[in-house]
Amino acid sequence: MLKYKIILLGSGGVGKSALTQRFIHGSFSEGYDPTIEDCYQKNIEVNNETCQLEILDTAGTEQFSSMRDVYIKSGDAFVIVYSINSISTFNDIQPIIDQITTIKDSDPAPLIIVGNKCDLDDDREVTEDLGQLLAKNSHCSFIEASAKLDLNVNEIFYDLLRQLANK
Ligand code: GTP
Ligand code: MG
Repeated sequence: MLKYKIILLGSGGVGKSALTQRFIHGSFSEGYDPTIEDCYQKNIEVNNETCQLEILDTAGTEQFSSMRDVYIKSGDAFVIVYSINSISTFNDIQPIIDQITTIKDSDPAPLIIVGNKCDLDDDREVTEDLGQLLAKNSHCSFIEASAKLDLNVNEIFYDLLRQLANK
């Protein structure tokens, strides 16, 4: 059976856990409970083949960022999340991408940048074009999503699976 480990990274409060909950359980909660580390499994069918996904939801808090090296080494593909209503969370992304690129130097890993909370368009601080541009420069995928409204959440994981299949 195909097995892939997908890691979610990004600043605190951007919605990594909400995206994971939406994908795994189809639910959303308004409450905020900062993550330390949570791991989930989900089997999905791709081209008539069962694929086992292990999804690691990490802590955004700076306090745990020393763990990032370890996570990156263990991951096959990465979801890098910011929230469209916070430019500072967008600015936090580049160093994460650089770290992944450095660690996965000999075997580049599929990445997708996710602009979450796209339902908060009235409070938008990061244009879609800016997200697209960063993704283009980093040679990775990009999507805006909303865990709250269930917009483009499955697409995040299917995009990574497509990239993994084409590796
Ligand atoms: P850490 O675990 O601290 O790294 O945070 P996180 O990235 O896991 O964020 P989390 O998923 O806990 O979400 C933080 C807050 O944002 C919660 O109150 C969520 O309800 C809210 N939230 C998450 N996704 C969305 C979204 O798509 N839209 C809106 N409006 N709120 C969201
Ligand atoms: Mg979390």
